[in-house]
Amino acid sequence: MKKLAKINPKKNNYLLGIQSFATMDTGACILKFDNKGKILDYIAISEERLLRKKYPYTFPILSIQYCLDYFRIRNLKDISFIISDWIRENRWIRSGPSYNYQEFDYIKEKLKFDKNKIIQIDHHLAHAASTFYTSGFRKSAVLIVDGNGSDLETNSYYVGNKNKLTLIEKFKNQGIGAVYSAVTKEILNLGTGSEGKTMGLAPYGKKNKKIKIKYKLNGIRTDFSQFMRKMPYSDVLNQINNEFRPKLIKFKHKKANKQNIMKKYFADWAFEVQDVSEKVLCHLAKDLKNKTKLNNITVAGGVALNCVANQKLFKKNKFKNIFVFPACSDAGIPFGLTIWAYYNIFNGKKKEFKYKNAYSGREYMNSEIIKILKKFKIRIKTISVPEIAKLISKKYVIGNFNGGSEYGPRALGNRSILADARDPNMRDYINNKVKHREIFRPFAPAILEEKSSKFFDVKYSPFMLQVAKVKKPELIPSAIHVDNSARVQTVNKDQNEKFYNIIKEFDKLTGIPCILNTSFNDAGEPLVETPLDALICFFKTKIDFLILNDFIIDKKKYNIKNLINELSIYRDQTIRKNLKLSSKNLTKNFNKKELHSKIKYENQIAIHHTLQRPILKLKKFHSSIKNKKILIIGTNDHTYVLQLLLPDFNNFNVDYLEINKNDFNNKKYKIKFKKITKIKKIKNYKKVFISSFEFKDEIIEKYNLRNYFTPYDNSSRSIIDFLMIKNKISLKEVHSYDFNKFS
Ligand SMILES: [Fe+2]
Repeated sequence: MKKLAKINPKKNNYLLGIQSFATMDTGACILKFDNKGKILDYIAISEERLLRKKYPYTFPILSIQYCLDYFRIRNLKDISFIISDWIRENRWIRSGPSYNYQEFDYIKEKLKFDKNKIIQIDHHLAHAASTFYTSGFRKSAVLIVDGNGSDLETNSYYVGNKNKLTLIEKFKNQGIGAVYSAVTKEILNLGTGSEGKTMGLAPYGKKNKKIKIKYKLNGIRTDFSQFMRKMPYSDVLNQINNEFRPKLIKFKHKKANKQNIMKKYFADWAFEVQDVSEKVLCHLAKDLKNKTKLNNITVAGGVALNCVANQKLFKKNKFKNIFVFPACSDAGIPFGLTIWAYYNIFNGKKKEFKYKNAYSGREYMNSEIIKILKKFKIRIKTISVPEIAKLISKKYVIGNFNGGSEYGPRALGNRSILADARDPNMRDYINNKVKHREIFRPFAPAILEEKSSKFFDVKYSPFMLQVAKVKKPELIPSAIHVDNSARVQTVNKDQNEKFYNIIKEFDKLTGIPCILNTSFNDAGEPLVETPLDALICFFKTKIDFLILNDFIIDKKKYNIKNLINELSIYRDQTIRKNLKLSSKNLTKNFNKKELHSKIKYENQIAIHHTLQRPILKLKKFHSSIKNKKILIIGTNDHTYVLQLLLPDFNNFNVDYLEINKNDFNNKKYKIKFKKITKIKKIKNYKKVFISSFEFKDEIIEKYNLRNYFTPYDNSSRSIIDFLMIKNKISLKEVHSYDFNKFS
């Protein structure tokens, strides 16, 4: 790590946080503090909101500009440091040698910023910082459970104490996040980023003897190797040919579609993966409690979005307090990066920072709203809070736009669709007619904090990241899930005064201190960010009234089709213009021709690293061990393919110890090496060769190996993949293919 940076005594300091790789949650955050080190303000946004495209995987050019504009900074010259994370390797240009080179990497090269002022930290450390420094706890255990962090890390334990975060333990390889994604994509066929849908489907399923995810838990280690193979994340081969993208689940299963997703088989799969997630999270929390003996726990990482599991984690463990950062997935990384740097590079003081709410986006003034409404001749009236509450009580569906947007996936009142939870038909109506989404998706109740315990077994849940049992389900049927649970948002005046007052007025009218709250967007769209986004979503859906700050718009008075068209064209033009201007402002010598030739060149290197480099290393090793006694420890399928690729190996002085698993394939093959069942003296061997891709780390650990050879690093593909690709066979067949056909 670079030495402690100095606070600029003459002016304000700005830290910019961005992810180092093309993620679906790409975005930016700028944190501002003064010359005495006091935090003055911060702003954070996800790129998808500005680009109007979910899961963009692009460089956050619009997000950076949005943050600069907020602080009225013209360009990156005023930024003290860029803080970023790292994934495969700790370097700025290209996050790992196996990644496909894309515009994201090119922009990083062309950024108008001194590369010496870029600091990269561990991905999970950024997650840990986001949740610990916002928790308000002086001392806390920190649990990070994620799909894939730095160097394939999945589970991490930290301890936060005052302003320091210390890593206690970490685990690499398969974790529950990757398993949840694999079931969501490969079995339930719900697509990228749809783990929340699986969670919604789970209560419709039951324990089913025929559906089982096999796993083992040991301390921080989670072993799902019998269920799925290692996932080659963002691998160049995945991108150039879909047949090179391996099937992750190791056995045959059915695949859902929109018509049959609610059938027992698929609902039972959702139930199983949810059940396993809850058990894994509870186990990890228990392990962390035993190891730290602390009373508080803070949680982050993609898996922490699973509010059902969070609740079980808390209830079944001995922690007294839990905190989950609202943007606990990778969307929250930019903020985590800047807040970590503030405390650890600039030695910030913990007492300085109080995290009050999740509204990290910029506010839009009434004057801006009037300007856009005038442009499209949309008439407005002002509206008071009691009038909004009255409309909701009359069963109208309201699009509510107010203040800054929420950081993270949950709408918490500022970009929300609001409705009357008392109406039993409201849930199906909003799912079908407003949000055009699956009927099993639940909605959340937003309730006055002081009255929450009358309706739910939760007193405080400001970010909708805990789930509660409902005490009076008959009173709010549309905000209750099928299993009588609810993803509650408790609201107090401090967090969001206007939203609090709307619910309070609704309570006065109806005697129910709770309304239905769901994110303000149509199916497949990101949350609305600007007044223009809100207008388009409002006119495209069956939302009855739109509230823009202090104004109300009634849909009935317009030619909706024409208006949607005009608004959409204007928005597309604005985004294109913003992209052009921001690119010009943030990068130098951007050249499309150069980008395309770089993509070609760099991807050849990436393919070589991923696929051919292990073979070359293997051949080099092979020629170096002639006439020397070696021990091969590995799996049957991998060792068989090794013999096929290098038949000469059979004449060498080799002992072979087979572990009781296969890497990918279901068959057992005849191995010609001299088999042993026990290692007598490991010193008798010149070298130990690990002939397994999946279980490399497990073998190293089990046999306490030091003097070993493996052709793989964290960016390689297996020699089995090499052989399949070379013979033009789809990797989707790898589990059932007969490797004898190669011989
Ligand atoms: Fe992450």
